[in-house]
Amino acid sequence: MKKILITGGAGFIGSHVVRLMVNKYPQTQVYNLDSLTYAGNLANLTDIELKPNYFFLKMDILDQEKINSLFEEHHFDAVLHLAAESHVDRSITNPLEFIHTNILGTVNLLNAARNFWNKPYEGKRFYHISTDEVYGSLGSEGLFTETTAYDPRSPYSASKASSDHFVRAYHHTYGLPVVISNCSNNYGPNQFPEKLIPLFINNIIQMKPLPVYGKGENVRDWLYVEDHAHAIDLILQKGKNGETYNIGGHNEWKNIDLIHILCKIMDKKLGREPGHSETLITYVKDRAGHDLRYAIDAGKLQRELGWEPSLQFEEGLEKTVDWYLNNKAWLEQVTSGEYQNFYHQQYEKR
Ligand code: NAD
Ligand code: DAU
Repeated sequence: MKKILITGGAGFIGSHVVRLMVNKYPQTQVYNLDSLTYAGNLANLTDIELKPNYFFLKMDILDQEKINSLFEEHHFDAVLHLAAESHVDRSITNPLEFIHTNILGTVNLLNAARNFWNKPYEGKRFYHISTDEVYGSLGSEGLFTETTAYDPRSPYSASKASSDHFVRAYHHTYGLPVVISNCSNNYGPNQFPEKLIPLFINNIIQMKPLPVYGKGENVRDWLYVEDHAHAIDLILQKGKNGETYNIGGHNEWKNIDLIHILCKIMDKKLGREPGHSETLITYVKDRAGHDLRYAIDAGKLQRELGWEPSLQFEEGLEKTVDWYLNNKAWLEQVTSGEYQNFYHQQYEKR
């Protein structure tokens, strides 16, 4: 591929995907389109920003005119669409923003691809990056497969489910060559400290309470972000048009068990007394409509494209903790200003 467009490339997962593509494919021009919301941060990409095959475009996917001009000017071979509002708690407070960015923004990109790519779209690919949350919530048994019926239960997951439906509709109606992947919870460097793991790392550093929703019994299936980026690369290169691929870590953890491990790692790394961080654990009011369990069957991706996660969880968590401890300036930058208002509204006013 000569030219690819990555949306949301300044965010958490997007920045790891951009880095992988820029470094692995020096002959491919990688365009990172991002409007730099609170979650987008060019500091995530300083190591590759001067590479000759990297280009940054500050642009909003809601701006259809600019998006159209961009597609008219550049003949992208592929779009990797990651730009989104991504935090469930924010979607509970402000659903409309999620409808705008996640649904309308996706449809804007689909329209641009449909209108400005030459039919019959030979050699083109529109890759939509989605989430396992579209499948709803599991009980104590079972796994999400690619054929599990959609049952989104938060404004965030409803907006992602809707965008998935539009992507499939453009494939069936207009023949647009699309592929979708639905991934489980990611963790790793550069994740904004509104999500469980980086929020708790930051609070432990600051010796602030660790707000565990409900009884801490909800289960998530965790995947190291670089493993997700490698899966995205594989699906981009070898996935089949019109197909969906589930991506997951075979790595289910009850929140409270994960938090205990994280506390132990943090105590060790910070040279604090064993058990110190655990004293910060504070049970708080549950998230509204809190999904009990997510777990992915990634068998199709393994069988058809040979993908497997590479890291054991404790190793991945240690790498993640090391990154945050070695990048305190990054953490301070993203937790100053507006973050303080978010934190106050979300945790201190409850
Ligand atoms: P993130 O919130 O860290 O980053 C989102 C990026 O999109 C930011 O850089 C932001 O500036 C940009 N953006 C937001 N609105 C935009 C707009 N209107 N125009 C242009 N850019 C805009 O998100 P993430 O956690 O990296 O998730 C990336 C994608 O992967 C999302 O689509 C999300 O639904 C999906 N996903 C995330 C996870 C996870 O665990 N984080 C798991 C599965 C799927
Ligand atoms: O499953 C994939 C999804 O994973 C992605 O699509 C989302 O973009 C991503 O945000 C993530 O959603 P979750 O809601 O699972 O992630 P979060 O880190 O917000 O929460 C993980 C679990 O931890 C969840 O059960 C809620 C709980 N939690 C979270 C926070 C922020 C707490 O107990 N306390 C907290 O303060």
